[in-house]
Amino acid sequence: MATTAEALGGQPAATAPERPAQPGSPCVMVIFGAAGDLTKRKLIPALYNLASGGLLPRDFAVVGVARPEMSSDGFREKLRSEIREFVTPDVRTDIWEQLERQLYYLPGEFSDPAMYRRLQALLADVDDQHGTHGNYFHYLATAPAFFAEVVRQLGLAGLAREDAGRWRRVVFEKPFGRDLDTARGLNRDIGQTLHERQVYRIDHYLGKETVQNILAFRFSNGIFEPIWNRRYIDHLQITAAESVGVERRGSYYEQSGALRDMMPNHLFQLLSLTAMEPPISFAADAVRDEQAKILHAIPAFSPEEVLKRAVRGQYGEGAINGHRLPGYRGEADVAPDSTTETFAAFKLFIDNWRWADVPFYVRTGKRLRARFTEIAIQFKRAPFVLFRDTPVDQLTPNRLVMHLQPDEGISLSFGAKVPGPVMRLGTVNMSFNYGDYFGTTPSTGYERLLYDCMIGDATLFQRADMVEAGWHVVAPILDVWKSLPPRNFPNYSAGSNGPREADELVERHARYGRVHGS
Ligand code: BG6
Repeated sequence: MATTAEALGGQPAATAPERPAQPGSPCVMVIFGAAGDLTKRKLIPALYNLASGGLLPRDFAVVGVARPEMSSDGFREKLRSEIREFVTPDVRTDIWEQLERQLYYLPGEFSDPAMYRRLQALLADVDDQHGTHGNYFHYLATAPAFFAEVVRQLGLAGLAREDAGRWRRVVFEKPFGRDLDTARGLNRDIGQTLHERQVYRIDHYLGKETVQNILAFRFSNGIFEPIWNRRYIDHLQITAAESVGVERRGSYYEQSGALRDMMPNHLFQLLSLTAMEPPISFAADAVRDEQAKILHAIPAFSPEEVLKRAVRGQYGEGAINGHRLPGYRGEADVAPDSTTETFAAFKLFIDNWRWADVPFYVRTGKRLRARFTEIAIQFKRAPFVLFRDTPVDQLTPNRLVMHLQPDEGISLSFGAKVPGPVMRLGTVNMSFNYGDYFGTTPSTGYERLLYDCMIGDATLFQRADMVEAGWHVVAPILDVWKSLPPRNFPNYSAGSNGPREADELVERHARYGRVHGS
């Protein structure tokens, strides 16, 4: 079938010859917290997708660990009834049945040493039956309060020890700490049992194709890198706007807020991939060294700068597409006088030769008008208006936008002459849409990350120093916001573009203000 690009007379997608990917190494994935949402929504569907793409090792098994009493058969049955809801298109019976035979379950308490002895025995059996060679990756899909304890117990039970050629890895879901001190403490605690090379701190944003494409776009094209700097770029706007509210996560969100929930992890990943220097290779540490340098080059905010350059907000009642929506304070498990922010934005700088004095505006919020995540790079305007004695009195700067979701693609705007006898300029768009060129592949966003855990590639996982550097940047904002509770909440309505002050933050600098989703 012709792609839309071909149908429109464009070039079919041309791809470089690929080395076929090999299935991951034989191993067992142990999921702590396997009775929760993440397992049924993301992890098992991602394993299914890997299996259908031929990337799941033949010698593989999953052991789910959680509190509810259930047998392995019960676990299989539960997932069998749930898988159809989370895998598209149809579930192929042969693939599912094979995967189902590889599923096991163990009920128990995460702090009970006897449970780890039972786990050890079960894993030894599974190794015998499935040829998994004692290679394990433990996936902590638990509340963060259990992270250190589970790792300690794994250590005591010998389940984190790498010897005799066996590998052992531990994957941590976010949040990793709730501020700099707790992140440092957690790194220290898990460091008593694990080497850093065994630690995989997941940031699900890095599982998104479009986020990985930032690297491909920057470093596989010769034309962008020479202008990717302060000489040509005026400012950048990195936005993750959500139209959903807090859903059923009120009690988590009350403790977290938008800043902690999104900034030091997801948005800083986007920031560091966009701003980093070309790494010397795609080896995990080469890439992560460059990302870490960016985070370390962000100067700490003084309290005055927090007041001037950071904006917080909380949504009140409003409407999206004609549906009335409650304000944040009316959501389940939220205090009626809550001061938790559901919107956060700030302007930061990166003090290095490439970016000195270039503002980066980062912002995120819930219950905004539309869902979009994008990186907008605004170039400097042409140095003067050549079109004297014409109706053109100003030029619009070029803007390159990486659309990460939901409409995945890249667009570049530039000026063009509007047809007619007088010289007028209009802004037009050149755009590439992922789906048109590459079609869509069923994905939960976790496939690549799980596969990387199996092959031992930590490039897309956060290293200890990166996590700490991220918290270090937001720490002064957290401190100032804590000591000066907001007096104007709620300050934006559900379904709007967020607080007015966030627009002003950009408009003070940039004449062609804030991007509201292009
Ligand atoms: C999670 C946050 O990490 O990311 C959520 O805790 C947020 O609050 C989600 O909604 C956004 O992820 P995505 O993939 O939907 O953009």
